[in-house]
Amino acid sequence: MRAFVKVESGVNGIEPAEVAVPRIDDDELLVRVKAVGVGIHDSYFLPGDAKYPFPIGIEAAGVVEQVGSDVSGHRPGDRVAFVSSMQPKGGTWAEYAAVKAGSLIVPVPAGLDFVEAAAVPVAGNTVLRAVKALEAVPTGGSLFIAGGSGAIGTLAIQVARTRGWRVGASASERNHDHMLSLGAEAVVDYHDPTWPEQIRRWMPGGADAAMAVQPHTSADSLSVVRDGGKLITISGDVVAPERNVRVEMVPHDTDVRGELTQLMTEIAQNEKRVEIERVYPFEEAQAALAKVQTRHARGKLVLRLD
Ligand SMILES: NC(=O)c1ccc[n+]([C@@H]2O[C@H](COP(=O)([O-])OP(=O)(O)OC[C@H]3O[C@@H](n4cnc5c(N)ncnc54)[C@H](OP(=O)(O)O)[C@@H]3O)[C@@H](O)[C@H]2O)c1
Repeated sequence: MRAFVKVESGVNGIEPAEVAVPRIDDDELLVRVKAVGVGIHDSYFLPGDAKYPFPIGIEAAGVVEQVGSDVSGHRPGDRVAFVSSMQPKGGTWAEYAAVKAGSLIVPVPAGLDFVEAAAVPVAGNTVLRAVKALEAVPTGGSLFIAGGSGAIGTLAIQVARTRGWRVGASASERNHDHMLSLGAEAVVDYHDPTWPEQIRRWMPGGADAAMAVQPHTSADSLSVVRDGGKLITISGDVVAPERNVRVEMVPHDTDVRGELTQLMTEIAQNEKRVEIERVYPFEEAQAALAKVQTRHARGKLVLRLD
């Protein structure tokens, strides 16, 4: 099958390659991949026991081709979207992927195509877990999102609005109208050093919570949270709490399968939008990886396999 692989451990780039279709174990599904969500993590989320050449990638949408004898709840022909991470047999940048049955696998609802479905699992899962960690924010409360125009931010704005939260968000000016159209009411340009003051003018006393999506945004995001509020860091920034603001990483042990299924349904019914800046033919996967690594994609990038 065609795949994009790391040729060996430690190399930087990825290469197109012909590799064997993975053989599934009893607790796995074989999925024929139709579309792949591209993320900055794809080039470095590699299991220690990876077998090289190793197809990269952790999310996709496609059709179940085979199910292992211990698998229940999935059948050949099912349309699924999934996150499959750190699997030694390889990831999703390939025509087929072996997926553990216990992975985050959700049905693709009627009306949602594979390209849209592939754009949702990782960003949706991250947003929904972060929002769950902010459950104490009441309806009418406020959230600031540092990085409102990317894959996570564009979904986070919409999910926060559904919770009844007022949303402020940052990106460069060219993305401001877009964030406003998704439901943000205050937008700031992170290149302007006065942006924290602008957010404090929007929400005097500070926002109830902030989500620091992009790396190195947590310290400034903390400064716009009210005393006793909460900051969720999404990219691993380490920042010391102050003024009784709780600082937490996005929780990894929260099960949001039900909420992710619901989100996919809402997107299928045009109640929410999944932003996709560009769909690349599979052959152009290296260009998609290079683009996402700039950290300036609007929404998601997706690879399509024909
Ligand atoms: N913890 C988890 O479970 C988890 C899961 C997935 C991803 N992540 C992390 O989340 C990050 C990726 O998020 P993503 O997929 O949403 O990113 P993304 O799609 O690459 O975000 C790109 C957008 O961010 C904006 N941006 C870039 N730098 C910014 C800054 N300093 N402040 C505000 N906006 C900025 C850009 O807007 P402009 O073009 O206007 O600058 C662009 O539209 C990665 O660091 C990844 O490691 C964590």
